[in-house]
Amino acid sequence: MKILFIGDVVGSPGRKMVQEYVPKLKEVYKPQITIVNGENAASGKGITEKIYKQFMQLGIQVVTMGNHTWNKREIIDFIDDAPNLIRPANFPPTNPGKGITYVKYNDLIVAVINLQGRTFLDPIDDPFTKADELIKEAKEKTNIIFIDFHAEATSEKQAFGWYVDGRVSAVIGTHTHTQTADNRILHGGTAYITDAGMTGPYDSVLGVEKDTIIQRFTSNMPARFEVDTKGRAQLNGCLLTIDEKTGKATKIERIMINDDHPFMNL
Ligand SMILES: [Fe+2]
Ligand SMILES: [Fe+2]
Repeated sequence: MKILFIGDVVGSPGRKMVQEYVPKLKEVYKPQITIVNGENAASGKGITEKIYKQFMQLGIQVVTMGNHTWNKREIIDFIDDAPNLIRPANFPPTNPGKGITYVKYNDLIVAVINLQGRTFLDPIDDPFTKADELIKEAKEKTNIIFIDFHAEATSEKQAFGWYVDGRVSAVIGTHTHTQTADNRILHGGTAYITDAGMTGPYDSVLGVEKDTIIQRFTSNMPARFEVDTKGRAQLNGCLLTIDEKTGKATKIERIMINDDHPFMNL
Protein backbone atom coordinates (compact mmCIF):
# COMPACT_ATOMS: atom_id res chain seq x y z
CA MET A 1 0.00 0.00 0.00
CA LYS A 2 0.99 3.61 -0.42
CA ILE A 3 0.87 6.48 2.03
CA LEU A 4 1.29 10.08 0.89
CA PHE A 5 2.55 12.52 3.49
CA ILE A 6 2.60 16.30 3.09
CA GLY A 7 4.93 18.30 5.39
CA ASP A 8 3.90 21.28 7.55
CA VAL A 9 1.32 23.31 5.61
CA VAL A 10 2.06 27.00 6.22
CA GLY A 11 -0.72 29.57 5.87
CA SER A 12 -2.76 30.32 2.74
CA PRO A 13 0.14 29.69 0.30
CA GLY A 14 0.51 26.19 1.78
CA ARG A 15 -3.22 25.53 1.71
CA LYS A 16 -3.39 26.60 -1.94
CA MET A 17 -0.56 24.20 -2.82
CA VAL A 18 -2.39 21.38 -1.03
CA GLN A 19 -5.57 22.23 -2.90
CA GLU A 20 -3.79 22.28 -6.24
CA TYR A 21 -1.39 19.37 -5.89
CA VAL A 22 -2.93 16.81 -3.53
CA PRO A 23 -5.52 15.81 -6.19
CA LYS A 24 -2.73 15.55 -8.81
CA LEU A 25 -0.47 13.55 -6.49
CA LYS A 26 -3.34 11.23 -5.65
CA GLU A 27 -4.06 10.74 -9.34
CA VAL A 28 -0.45 9.93 -10.19
CA TYR A 29 0.64 7.89 -7.14
CA LYS A 30 -2.73 6.48 -6.01
CA PRO A 31 -2.01 6.45 -2.27
CA GLN A 32 -4.57 4.68 -0.11
CA ILE A 33 -3.97 7.09 2.76
CA THR A 34 -2.98 10.77 2.69
CA ILE A 35 -1.67 12.47 5.83
CA VAL A 36 -0.91 16.18 6.22
CA ASN A 37 0.87 18.04 9.02
CA GLY A 38 -1.37 21.04 9.71
CA GLU A 39 0.30 22.73 12.68
CA ASN A 40 0.99 25.93 10.67
CA ALA A 41 -2.07 25.84 8.41
CA ALA A 42 -3.88 28.86 9.89
CA SER A 43 -1.79 31.97 9.19
CA GLY A 44 1.40 30.15 10.18
CA LYS A 45 0.41 28.95 13.65
CA GLY A 46 -2.30 26.44 14.51
CA ILE A 47 -5.37 25.21 12.67
CA THR A 48 -9.06 26.17 12.53
CA GLU A 49 -12.06 23.89 12.19
CA LYS A 50 -12.79 25.33 8.74
CA ILE A 51 -9.28 24.43 7.50
CA TYR A 52 -9.48 20.96 9.04
CA LYS A 53 -12.75 20.39 7.18
CA GLN A 54 -11.24 21.68 3.93
CA PHE A 55 -8.44 19.11 4.30
CA MET A 56 -10.99 16.34 4.88
CA GLN A 57 -12.92 17.42 1.76
CA LEU A 58 -9.73 17.00 -0.29
CA GLY A 59 -9.65 13.33 0.68
CA ILE A 60 -6.98 13.71 3.34
CA GLN A 61 -7.46 11.06 6.01
CA VAL A 62 -5.39 12.38 8.91
CA VAL A 63 -4.07 15.78 10.03
CA THR A 64 -1.14 15.76 12.45
CA MET A 65 0.07 18.69 14.54
CA GLY A 66 3.08 19.79 16.62
CA ASN A 67 4.29 22.55 18.93
CA HIS A 68 1.80 25.02 17.40
CA THR A 69 -1.21 22.80 18.17
CA TRP A 70 -2.89 25.24 20.57
CA ASN A 71 -2.04 28.54 18.82
CA LYS A 72 -5.57 28.89 17.43
CA ARG A 73 -7.57 28.44 20.58
CA GLU A 74 -10.72 27.24 18.82
CA ILE A 75 -9.01 23.85 18.40
CA ILE A 76 -9.65 23.25 22.10
CA ASP A 77 -13.38 23.28 21.32
CA PHE A 78 -13.37 21.01 18.26
CA ILE A 79 -10.39 18.62 18.55
CA ASP A 80 -12.36 16.08 20.58
CA ASP A 81 -15.02 15.99 17.85
CA ALA A 82 -12.46 15.71 15.03
CA PRO A 83 -11.59 11.99 14.82
CA ASN A 84 -8.84 12.49 12.23
CA LEU A 85 -7.02 15.39 13.86
CA ILE A 86 -4.24 14.29 16.19
CA ARG A 87 -1.74 16.21 18.31
CA PRO A 88 1.53 15.00 19.87
CA ALA A 89 0.67 12.03 22.10
CA ASN A 90 3.28 12.99 24.71
CA PHE A 91 1.58 16.28 25.60
CA PRO A 92 0.31 16.28 29.21
CA PRO A 93 -2.44 13.67 29.62
CA THR A 94 -4.98 16.33 30.68
CA ASN A 95 -4.73 18.05 27.25
CA PRO A 96 -7.71 17.79 24.91
CA GLY A 97 -7.43 15.57 21.84
CA LYS A 98 -5.39 12.43 21.28
CA GLY A 99 -2.10 11.40 19.71
CA ILE A 100 -3.12 8.24 17.85
CA THR A 101 -5.86 7.44 15.40
CA TYR A 102 -6.78 4.49 13.19
CA VAL A 103 -7.77 4.79 9.54
CA LYS A 104 -9.49 2.01 7.63
CA TYR A 105 -8.94 1.27 3.98
CA ASN A 106 -10.93 -1.75 2.79
CA ASP A 107 -9.84 -4.43 5.26
CA LEU A 108 -6.60 -2.66 6.18
CA ILE A 109 -6.13 -0.61 9.32
CA VAL A 110 -3.41 2.04 9.53
CA ALA A 111 -2.38 3.48 12.89
CA VAL A 112 -1.20 7.09 12.72
CA ILE A 113 0.75 8.44 15.69
CA ASN A 114 1.96 11.99 16.35
CA LEU A 115 4.83 12.55 18.81
CA GLN A 116 7.01 15.55 19.63
CA GLY A 117 10.69 15.70 20.50
CA ARG A 118 12.03 17.46 23.60
CA THR A 119 15.34 18.93 22.45
CA PHE A 120 15.05 22.74 21.97
CA LEU A 121 11.27 22.44 22.41
CA ASP A 122 8.91 22.73 25.39
CA PRO A 123 9.50 20.15 28.13
CA ILE A 124 6.89 17.43 27.69
CA ASP A 125 6.68 13.71 28.41
CA ASP A 126 9.26 11.30 26.99
CA PRO A 127 8.32 10.50 23.36
CA PHE A 128 10.34 7.26 23.40
CA THR A 129 8.40 5.74 26.30
CA LYS A 130 5.14 7.06 24.89
CA ALA A 131 5.99 5.42 21.56
CA ASP A 132 6.48 2.03 23.30
CA GLU A 133 3.05 2.36 24.87
CA LEU A 134 1.28 3.37 21.63
CA ILE A 135 3.04 0.81 19.43
CA LYS A 136 1.92 -1.92 21.85
CA GLU A 137 -1.64 -0.61 21.63
CA ALA A 138 -1.56 -0.30 17.82
CA LYS A 139 -0.05 -3.77 17.29
CA GLU A 140 -3.22 -5.31 18.67
CA LYS A 141 -5.02 -3.93 15.61
CA THR A 142 -2.45 -3.59 12.83
CA ASN A 143 1.16 -3.90 11.65
CA ILE A 144 0.91 -0.72 9.61
CA ILE A 145 2.01 2.10 11.89
CA PHE A 146 2.94 5.61 10.72
CA ILE A 147 4.64 8.11 13.05
CA ASP A 148 4.95 11.87 12.46
CA PHE A 149 7.85 12.73 14.78
CA HIS A 150 7.76 16.50 15.24
CA ALA A 151 11.16 17.56 16.51
CA GLU A 152 13.92 20.14 16.17
CA ALA A 153 17.13 18.15 16.62
CA THR A 154 18.31 15.83 13.87
CA SER A 155 20.01 13.67 16.52
CA GLU A 156 16.77 13.15 18.43
CA LYS A 157 14.94 12.28 15.20
CA GLN A 158 17.60 9.79 14.10
CA ALA A 159 17.79 8.22 17.57
CA PHE A 160 14.01 7.88 17.59
CA GLY A 161 14.02 6.30 14.13
CA TRP A 162 16.50 3.64 15.25
CA TYR A 163 14.64 3.16 18.54
CA VAL A 164 11.42 2.12 16.81
CA ASP A 165 13.07 0.51 13.75
CA GLY A 166 11.35 -2.76 12.89
CA ARG A 167 8.38 -1.95 15.08
CA VAL A 168 6.69 0.68 12.87
CA SER A 169 6.29 1.25 9.14
CA ALA A 170 7.56 4.83 9.05
CA VAL A 171 9.06 7.65 11.08
CA ILE A 172 8.62 10.89 9.20
CA GLY A 173 10.21 13.98 10.71
CA THR A 174 8.45 17.35 10.68
CA HIS A 175 8.93 20.82 12.25
CA THR A 176 12.20 22.08 10.76
CA HIS A 177 10.46 22.99 7.48
CA THR A 178 13.36 22.07 5.18
CA GLN A 179 13.38 18.72 3.42
CA THR A 180 16.37 16.51 4.18
CA ALA A 181 17.85 14.08 1.65
CA ASP A 182 18.36 11.20 4.10
CA ASN A 183 15.26 9.19 3.18
CA ARG A 184 16.02 5.50 3.62
CA ILE A 185 14.70 2.20 4.91
CA LEU A 186 16.33 1.34 8.25
CA HIS A 187 17.58 -2.23 8.92
CA GLY A 188 14.34 -3.44 10.48
CA GLY A 189 12.12 -2.13 7.68
CA THR A 190 11.14 1.30 8.99
CA ALA A 191 11.04 4.11 6.42
CA TYR A 192 12.82 7.19 7.77
CA ILE A 193 13.43 10.81 6.84
CA THR A 194 14.67 13.50 9.22
CA ASP A 195 12.33 16.10 7.76
CA ALA A 196 9.72 15.95 5.02
CA GLY A 197 9.96 19.72 4.52
CA MET A 198 7.16 22.26 4.50
CA THR A 199 4.37 23.29 2.17
CA GLY A 200 4.02 27.03 1.78
CA PRO A 201 6.01 30.14 0.84
CA TYR A 202 9.06 29.24 -1.25
CA ASP A 203 10.95 32.57 -1.24
CA SER A 204 10.83 32.83 2.55
CA VAL A 205 12.64 31.83 5.72
CA LEU A 206 10.87 28.64 6.83
CA GLY A 207 7.59 30.15 5.59
CA VAL A 208 7.99 33.57 7.20
CA GLU A 209 8.38 36.80 5.21
CA LYS A 210 12.16 36.93 4.61
CA ASP A 211 12.87 40.67 5.12
CA THR A 212 11.43 40.49 8.64
CA ILE A 213 13.75 37.63 9.51
CA ILE A 214 16.78 39.34 7.98
CA GLN A 215 15.98 42.40 10.06
CA ARG A 216 15.60 40.28 13.15
CA PHE A 217 19.06 38.78 12.62
CA THR A 218 20.73 42.06 11.73
CA SER A 219 19.10 44.27 14.38
CA ASN A 220 18.31 41.80 17.17
CA MET A 221 15.05 43.73 17.63
CA PRO A 222 11.76 41.88 18.11
CA ALA A 223 9.68 41.54 14.96
CA ARG A 224 6.23 40.24 14.10
CA PHE A 225 6.48 37.10 11.99
CA GLU A 226 4.06 37.05 9.06
CA VAL A 227 3.57 34.27 6.51
CA ASP A 228 4.91 35.44 3.14
CA THR A 229 1.81 35.54 0.94
CA LYS A 230 3.29 37.49 -1.97
CA GLY A 231 5.94 35.18 -3.36
CA ARG A 232 6.02 31.73 -4.94
CA ALA A 233 4.95 28.59 -3.13
CA GLN A 234 6.24 25.02 -2.71
CA LEU A 235 5.01 21.62 -1.59
CA ASN A 236 7.16 19.03 0.19
CA GLY A 237 6.44 15.59 1.46
CA CYS A 238 7.10 11.93 0.82
CA LEU A 239 5.54 8.81 -0.57
CA LEU A 240 5.78 5.50 1.26
CA THR A 241 5.30 2.01 -0.08
CA ILE A 242 4.48 -0.49 2.64
CA ASP A 243 4.05 -4.27 2.60
CA GLU A 244 0.49 -4.70 3.84
CA LYS A 245 1.10 -8.03 5.54
CA THR A 246 4.30 -7.31 7.44
CA GLY A 247 3.88 -3.54 7.86
CA LYS A 248 7.50 -3.10 6.69
CA ALA A 249 8.31 -0.27 4.32
CA THR A 250 9.81 -1.16 0.96
CA LYS A 251 10.27 2.35 -0.43
CA ILE A 252 10.40 5.98 0.67
CA GLU A 253 10.51 8.68 -1.99
CA ARG A 254 10.82 12.42 -1.44
CA ILE A 255 8.29 14.74 -3.02
CA MET A 256 9.44 18.29 -3.72
CA ILE A 257 7.41 20.63 -5.90
CA ASN A 258 8.55 24.20 -6.57
CA ASP A 259 9.57 26.34 -9.53
CA ASP A 260 13.05 24.77 -9.47
CA HIS A 261 11.64 21.24 -9.22
CA PRO A 262 8.37 21.22 -11.20
CA PHE A 263 5.92 18.38 -10.67
CA MET A 264 6.30 16.11 -13.69
CA ASN A 265 6.16 19.27 -15.77
CA LEU A 266 2.38 19.35 -15.33
FE1 LIG B 1 5.90 23.56 11.44
FE1 LIG C 1 6.64 22.83 14.67
